Amino acid sequence: MEIITTIDNIRSKVKEWKLQGLSVGFVPTMGYLHEGHISLVNESNKQCDKTIASIFVNPSQFGPNEDFEAYPRDFDRDCSLLEANGCDIVFYPEKNEIYPENFATYINIISDMPKQLCGKSRPIHFQGVCTVVAKLFNIVTPDKAFFGEKDAQQLAIIKKMVADLNIDVKVVPCPIIREEDGLAKSSRNTYLNKEERIAALILSKSIFLGKSLVEKGERNADIILSAMIEMINSEPMAKIDYVDAVDGLTMLKVKNITGTTLFAMAVNIGKTRLIDNFVVEAK
Ligand code: PAF
Repeated sequence: MEIITTIDNIRSKVKEWKLQGLSVGFVPTMGYLHEGHISLVNESNKQCDKTIASIFVNPSQFGPNEDFEAYPRDFDRDCSLLEANGCDIVFYPEKNEIYPENFATYINIISDMPKQLCGKSRPIHFQGVCTVVAKLFNIVTPDKAFFGEKDAQQLAIIKKMVADLNIDVKVVPCPIIREEDGLAKSSRNTYLNKEERIAALILSKSIFLGKSLVEKGERNADIILSAMIEMINSEPMAKIDYVDAVDGLTMLKVKNITGTTLFAMAVNIGKTRLIDNFVVEAK
């Protein structure tokens, strides 16, 4: 596995592959990898001839009081995991390579999509995500890019950006990977102490409760949300940021399940903000 740190070098490598007729899969990450990320690498290996993963903790998607500095990092461990799982190249740029001193252009999302769900408490987050993802797409020029469904709002916003800006990349959504006890895998799970880790199970428990109500035929989103919220509030260490039901494309709130409906939540367990979701396709 090759580690590449400059835009020029990754571009010439990808050009070489494309001249050979090879397809390129891309897995953008912020590092501190877990099985969720590895499932994206595996899917890329299945669907493409070559796989590139990027590791870049993107400063522009963190607000001033968020965990940019504290975000967990372990480059050597990430490289071992990627190499063991058949990744061909790790793109590991320095901050200045992506955001040089005179950097002045950001993606401006003018719909209400980034203002819902996570956007309520993270107002600049999706501008930062879209900006770095657009840049990475332009640098890596992959055929396909693989994103986890855990970040459902991110996925919807990136799909819309790709469509709106005619970016020639196929975005491939991949399912949420969970710990055996149900907790969705996340790099931020490492922030949790023992008690918090147990308390964090309230997220997946309420996801499973919501799903079971839908399976029993409930279509009123408010009834489902109330049951989920009541369950989360029964955990004293949990503090809800949001629990909402939104349209899967627009991210706007819905009252009833029609079309694709995303039930999504962000819950603080101690100082750690965790997200989880499930999607219902109305028949
Ligand atoms: O999902 C993430 O890890 C990040 O938001 C991404 C897509 C790598 C952009 O920094």
